[in-house]
Amino acid sequence: MIKNDNQILVIFGASGDLTARKLIPAIYNLYKKDYLPEKYAIVGVGRTSYDDEEFRQKAVIENEHIKKEGDKSLEDFAKLIHYHSLDTSNKEDYKGLSDRLHSIDDDFGTNCNVIFYLSVPPSLYGVIPKHLAYAGLNEEKSGWTRLIIEKPFGYDLESAKELNKTLLEDYREDQIYRIDHYLGKETVQNLLVTRFSNSIFEPLWNRNYIHRVEITSAESVGVEKRGGYYDGSGALRDMVQNHLLQLIGLVAMEPPVKSDANSIRNEKLKVFQSLRPMTPEDVKNNVIRGQYTSSKIKGEEVKGYREEEGVDPESKTETFVALKFFIDNWRWSGVPFYIRSGKKLPTRVSEVVIHFKPNHHRLFSQSQKINSQNMLVLRIQPDEGVLLKFGMKVPGQGFDVKNVNMDFLYSDLTDAYVPDAYERLILDCMQGDATLYARGDSVEAAWEFIDPILKAWKEDSSIPIYGYPAGTWGPENVDDLIEGEHMMWRYPCKNLAEDGIFCEL
Ligand code: BG6
Repeated sequence: MIKNDNQILVIFGASGDLTARKLIPAIYNLYKKDYLPEKYAIVGVGRTSYDDEEFRQKAVIENEHIKKEGDKSLEDFAKLIHYHSLDTSNKEDYKGLSDRLHSIDDDFGTNCNVIFYLSVPPSLYGVIPKHLAYAGLNEEKSGWTRLIIEKPFGYDLESAKELNKTLLEDYREDQIYRIDHYLGKETVQNLLVTRFSNSIFEPLWNRNYIHRVEITSAESVGVEKRGGYYDGSGALRDMVQNHLLQLIGLVAMEPPVKSDANSIRNEKLKVFQSLRPMTPEDVKNNVIRGQYTSSKIKGEEVKGYREEEGVDPESKTETFVALKFFIDNWRWSGVPFYIRSGKKLPTRVSEVVIHFKPNHHRLFSQSQKINSQNMLVLRIQPDEGVLLKFGMKVPGQGFDVKNVNMDFLYSDLTDAYVPDAYERLILDCMQGDATLYARGDSVEAAWEFIDPILKAWKEDSSIPIYGYPAGTWGPENVDDLIEGEHMMWRYPCKNLAEDGIFCEL
């Protein structure tokens, strides 16, 4: 086990939802597993005024997202936590924070190693690091300083470039950790292992054998309480620009020379640079956007997107997007890639589906059923696992062929503790490993692909936004995107091995 440096974690946005739901529970799990260094402190920062004890109660003792089990005491963990109140927009306040951190450093002996975690609205991503630098908190005199920045990183290409530029005025690239929680998911990391540790898949992983690649990320929830944020974002910015393009990067990249941060991130960058830019005509033909409308799900009335709290009643923000695109490089030339993501779909599921080409010569009378070719499904969530579909003889007369399933489920592992994405990512940052964080150049390259779509939607009002009843798989014409006869999206169920429009959800 790598020994972690003694350190302080400073969380901006300490009274926010992410801190309670993800960050504090993740750090508590690290604590229970003895991953925290001997000398460790957490400082919550926010505008609301609490004293240390009040914040400990709120953030830890009364936190309903913490699983209170094991022999490590929650009370002892809570003692690691402190609170400092500050107005994030007032740079003079940061001198007080600096004094506080120095005094905690003296008390705890954390060697001046600090991570600043920005769990705040995106408008503050440039402001807080600047003000930290004003108070000298970016300097690495005797320890190290790292910044973790939540998504969305930028609103479009221009704002992402601007933000990178602002950050790089005071910090080095290797101090900046741009978080994309999908990369912290165990099943996402397994994409690399499936590809590069099995000699049976990699030889097939190219245009000669793969017909198409499909990625679905469906959510059954709507925008819930985040209407205000989401209405200015939409599915393309919220899910595709970051999480789903990161998945594409891992599925499509060349084998890295080594498994270190730069080798892996260099290969992903090359994928993003090879994405074929979309013309306004491509956007019309190859991108479908939709918005959920009111409907009845299991007998209950469900609101449409435009009726949700914080959403403009005439909003044109997409809650669903599906796109077809190409990667113009040696490996993938001519292979279509499909991405589909949306809210208020029939179930929550994320998966990558590799569709293999059919045999060149059809020997047996395999009926031309929909999606009847070999298929490898890498299930990200839920029912995490890997599924291979292949043809088997139907017992009896003749040579009738039927597609059957061979699957592996994480839940079948005896010690299947699958850590939460945040646990893995925070631990990596503590150890200075940026492999699973997005690098500035690749974030910009991803925006470069997304920008023309946003621009076409903005400038061409004839591009429709289709309504789809909440609880359905998006606009009806979305299957038309898939190239080829007898081809459609896989309609996944909660259960990895089942699919089809009518499967149990
Ligand atoms: C977030 C998006 O980044 O990812 C949310 O802002 C979305 O809108 C969430 O619901 C999905 O994450 P997960 O881990 O539940 O798939």
